Amino acid sequence: MASIRTQVGIVGAGPAGLTLAHLLHRRGVESVVVENRSREYVQERVRAGVLEQGTVDLFVATGVGERLQREGLVHRGIELRFAHRGHRIDLDDLTGGKTITIYGQNRVIEDLTNARIAAGGRIFFAAEEVRIGGFDDGGAPVIRFRADGEPVELQCDFIAGCDGFHGVCRPSMPAGSLTAFERQYPFGWLGILAEVAPSMDELIYSRHERGFALHSMRSPQITRLYLQVAPDEEISNWPDERIWEELQRRFETVDGFTLNRGPVIQKGITPMHSFVVEPMQYGKLFLAGDAAHIVPPTGAKGLNLAIADVRVLARAFIEYYRSGARERLERYSEICLRRVWKVQRFSWWMTSMLHRFGDENAFDERRQLAELDYVTSSRAASQSLAENYVGLPMED
Ligand code: APR
Ligand code: PHB
Repeated sequence: MASIRTQVGIVGAGPAGLTLAHLLHRRGVESVVVENRSREYVQERVRAGVLEQGTVDLFVATGVGERLQREGLVHRGIELRFAHRGHRIDLDDLTGGKTITIYGQNRVIEDLTNARIAAGGRIFFAAEEVRIGGFDDGGAPVIRFRADGEPVELQCDFIAGCDGFHGVCRPSMPAGSLTAFERQYPFGWLGILAEVAPSMDELIYSRHERGFALHSMRSPQITRLYLQVAPDEEISNWPDERIWEELQRRFETVDGFTLNRGPVIQKGITPMHSFVVEPMQYGKLFLAGDAAHIVPPTGAKGLNLAIADVRVLARAFIEYYRSGARERLERYSEICLRRVWKVQRFSWWMTSMLHRFGDENAFDERRQLAELDYVTSSRAASQSLAENYVGLPMED
């Protein structure tokens, strides 16, 4: 059996795990990443695509923002469409110059992976039977797995559980040490990637009697579109033609708007879910990103929140290795959860403002429209949306 040792053992090579490894490396803290999927799979998976201002600033400041700055699409506003009209939220003006950048999560992963490998960082892809142990206070943390069929034991001082919602770290915590808070939504999103130029140069969040729809993009040649559907909907019920017709209906609330159509290169259905565990740590194990919380995608927050967690975690590890002080590590969960809950609130609010829940009465419907009218006509209300959308400031 191979036995290796590092300071921080990281489970998961998603945005959280790779960013953590990158930030630690820059301050001389060693880590090893253990990922159960292949490098190709992780890099090709179609996921989120909106980066907050603070996420972009972090990547640029730490030397992984070159392609992002070259190819990312900077957006200064978004549109909210409802009751046959479009209303622009001017993010730039409402936040004193902040913007968002459209850049696929798979590119973020590729940039971070390349940077780690160029810096001599170790990432085990396609690791099998990943297990963690020894993370009680006073214990000796270990990540066990198989690489190319051979058992490996990775000893470390701490384990960072960055292995997403279905990972192995959260379920390894002792029963009773965590409390979960969750909410299911009575719908999912059917998402497509189409080989066609976006129909507008900004994102459109459309509230429609038939359900929510979102127009987004990945590049000037690739459009990303979403439709609210039933949570148990089968993708086989949605041939491309039906998807385009439904999308066109939900966006055509504005006169003369025509959605550009092109070959569909990817499609899938995602359920909608809000989830948080408290605390996000136990002994020498720290959860970050989707391993600790899930937000519905309406606020475009999942990836950004994962990055916010690992900023806090990296700082705590760096402080520990520099001075031996554990204070920041002990407060990790408390610091993160303040942001997590504000982001949960925002994501829930955007979701409830824009979707049909199916059990609304006429009062609820009027109230939803009044909310959209208020958000788009009051500067104070638009400013609150904009401040959250570009990303709340990082806390200490
Ligand atoms: N062992 C090792 N790795 C694992 C295991 C396991 N048992 N289980 C899962 N993983 C890997 C997954 O294959 C994935 O690459 O952990 C990684 C977790 O990455 P993400 O799910 O992307 O989670 P995170 O890094 O927290 O980023 C959250 O990513 O998917 C989006 O919507 C999500 O935008 C949010 C962001
Ligand atoms: C996306 O482009 O995938 C996207 C954009 C905005 C969202 C969610 C997803 O709110």
